[in-house]
Amino acid sequence: MTNNGLRNLSLAAKSVAHVLSVHPDGLQFPALLERVLATSTHGDKRAERDVRRSSIAMIKAGWIVIDRGHHWSLSVEGANAIERYADPGDFILEASRRSLQGWLSVRTPLYLYGVQALETFFLEFRAIRRVGFRRFVGKTLNKEKWHDILPLQAPRRWAFPQLNVQSLEELIQELRRTATRYSEGGHAVYLPPESLRNSTFHELAEHYPSDAGLKIIKKPGGVDDSSYTFGFVPGDSRVHVKLIHRPKHLSLVACLLFCEGVGPRLYDFVELQCRDQLWTGYVIRHVSGRTPTLSECQSGIERLQNLEQRGLLKVLLPEGFSDPEFECPSCSSNALMGSNGSFNYVDFQNFLLTDYGTYLTTIAREATDSSHFGDRSRLRGGRYLYQSVPGVNLPGKRDVSHRVAVLRGLMDEAGVSVHNRLVLDIGCNIGMMMAQYLKMGAAWCHGWDRPQVTPHAERLLLALGCTRFSMTGGEIFPEQQLEDDLPEFLHQNLDGCILSYLAVRGHIGWLKALARVRWSVMIYEGHEAESESEFRQHIDKLKNIVDCTVIAFKYYLDGDSDHRPIALLKRNGAVVNAEE
Ligand SMILES: C[S@@+](CC[C@H](N)C(=O)[O-])C[C@H]1O[C@@H](n2cnc3c(N)ncnc32)[C@H](O)[C@@H]1O
Repeated sequence: MTNNGLRNLSLAAKSVAHVLSVHPDGLQFPALLERVLATSTHGDKRAERDVRRSSIAMIKAGWIVIDRGHHWSLSVEGANAIERYADPGDFILEASRRSLQGWLSVRTPLYLYGVQALETFFLEFRAIRRVGFRRFVGKTLNKEKWHDILPLQAPRRWAFPQLNVQSLEELIQELRRTATRYSEGGHAVYLPPESLRNSTFHELAEHYPSDAGLKIIKKPGGVDDSSYTFGFVPGDSRVHVKLIHRPKHLSLVACLLFCEGVGPRLYDFVELQCRDQLWTGYVIRHVSGRTPTLSECQSGIERLQNLEQRGLLKVLLPEGFSDPEFECPSCSSNALMGSNGSFNYVDFQNFLLTDYGTYLTTIAREATDSSHFGDRSRLRGGRYLYQSVPGVNLPGKRDVSHRVAVLRGLMDEAGVSVHNRLVLDIGCNIGMMMAQYLKMGAAWCHGWDRPQVTPHAERLLLALGCTRFSMTGGEIFPEQQLEDDLPEFLHQNLDGCILSYLAVRGHIGWLKALARVRWSVMIYEGHEAESESEFRQHIDKLKNIVDCTVIAFKYYLDGDSDHRPIALLKRNGAVVNAEE
């Protein structure tokens, strides 16, 4: 090695050590590199190579340690070495003496290329073999319809105009400034419920259940342009990183893990707007419990393996279930027992959805028997769904997309929006109209239906990536106290909420609660073959209970259904078109 080469390498090593010495909490590799390059005089590419080469010696010497969050920091030995070996040349040579890899990496650049090339080759080969070649080249993913249309729910955007947080460093500074307790992984920062309530983002916490935590993706960007991975860390498989779902599809993974009883409930997938910078986050139920015992963990991992065997997902890491991320009992802190004794695997980015289209069809089919309402159809093969399911090729008596197109026309005409409103869906069936309200940006939906129907609704909604909902399963009766059925955090939204009363009046009549709840708009649909005069008579009965006016009305038909009236009613005195 030339004297010049060794000098550059030594300077790079010293520079890395100095930068780390003034960042005791550590830095991720991209941030470290940026700082070292800022002081370099001989070109970014060359300097980066020197940083990598000299780092091998320092890591192998134990002078630099890398934690789970991919933070590089200086160990005590590293700090002592800076003092002891003031001359950069001595510093790097001392580091290189402590391991064969370090010695080779300093003596010859070929070591860096040779070892990296070989290691990379095997790593990438294992990653491709894990997910399958077909999936790797993207054929399967690109073909599937669900990939384009899900998640159905519109992400909720929360604005924090007072917060000027443009970079990850500023975000971390803000959390530290406000003494917010948080934990940090390689790609996300997590605020447990109490921290969330006391943080700058506290306003958001008020609109979710009290056990909600917030996981913010480290890479800035909104839902459509952010990716889950934060920079590339040496040692990661590029295939693995490339295949990680985008944050919006990861919300489907989170929902699937919850439905299969191995993950916490996802409450929302949100955008945080800090001035003109967007951040993407997940509002998720906090798992407050302990690390599982060995046997609890093993049975949890078996359930995850079972999901892989059923073809629902694949572990993306090149070593699959042999990766330390699945090593019992803690799975590198990814496994937690909930206070109710449930096993939770919290790192959903480790999974790739595989046969998701089939999963959707299967759960829609399973809903058929208990959720069908109305006639059997010989042509349709007996019982069939009442509401069609987006992305699923199964017949439904009602064609939800056609219905929604008509409804949207009426809403535009009347200047009505469900955006940021609470929607109460009485007789919600399998929740497909709730899914549409959430797609239109509803703040939250609560649905009521029979107990044999609501579990299917919950499952289907989550499978479609709809999370801002809750349900009451039971026979609806005239004195039903709708307000009492709502989770506590929704009571603040009752005033001005929207009621969805679709094709259900004939079964349950007008509920007494309609007079009490301060709704603003009712989306009403009558029954097949209901004449206009009959429609008016029913509305008159409603008017006897509550002062309201029809603001939009028409007849329509969809799916296998005959003509029926659809209308928007305004509760007199209520504000109709205020969005916020
Ligand atoms: C004709 S479907 C309408 C479903 C949905 N509102 C729509 O328009 O797509 C009527 C729904 O109300 C529910 N339902 C009818 N009577 C009920 C009762 N007494 N208690 C609970 N749910 C009831 C049925 O289970 C069914 O899902």
